[in-house]
Amino acid sequence: MSRIGRILASGTTLVFALILSTDNATARNFYDDAAIKKDIDALVELLKGDKVDDAKVKTAVADIKKKYDDLNDLMKIYKPTAKKGLGWNPAKPGKLDGIEQRINDLGTKKVLTKAQMAKEKELILRATYYNLALYEITKGFAPDKIKGGKGPNDWKKHNDEIMEGSKEVIAAVKANDPVALKKAMGRIGGGCTECHADFRDR
Ligand code: HEC
Repeated sequence: MSRIGRILASGTTLVFALILSTDNATARNFYDDAAIKKDIDALVELLKGDKVDDAKVKTAVADIKKKYDDLNDLMKIYKPTAKKGLGWNPAKPGKLDGIEQRINDLGTKKVLTKAQMAKEKELILRATYYNLALYEITKGFAPDKIKGGKGPNDWKKHNDEIMEGSKEVIAAVKANDPVALKKAMGRIGGGCTECHADFRDR
């Protein structure tokens, strides 16, 4: 290859490397409406309503897993917007606005009043459908064998808490029942913490 050819070739490689690395950076960014958020939002739409089309959910989940094969990236959805998570309330971004934070607060702090709960209803439901989407996605990341005493059954048990707790949240919102809301959020928070204890933090 001529000298100029080599320079051009390495320039092209550099441009491609840059394109790839920016792509990667946006792939982890839920907050700025990136492709990853669109895919998860499409899954959320499939999960809303009374009749869920299981076949469509399965296809959407498989597609997401194929595109984003790192569970850690997908779980970033729960982080504060400052850390490129989705954030509890898109209208009020802040430093500690992560969905994870709000789930923990609602599950452990003072019970909301009925008026507070009614006011926050839409945001509670929004987060809950993201939980259900992540539940579907997380199923596909179960370990296939037991390691350090923990295996696929433990994974399923913790993940099911997210699904059961989320259904309880939806029922609590329908009844505008703050006590039931706190209990359900506590159940979800427990599922997150226990799965992390068994599979992430060790
Ligand atoms: C069934 C298991 C399981 C459940 C349930 C689960 N997680 Fe995770 N989560 C993981 C694992 C495993 C990782 C680490 C993945 C890795 O390192 O590849 C993780 C990572 C994370 C991260 C780290 C992202 C980062 O880059 O630092 C956050 C945040 C998170 N989870 C939030 C949650 C929240 C909030 C819930 C509950 C609503 C939850 N997770 C439920 C297994 C789970």
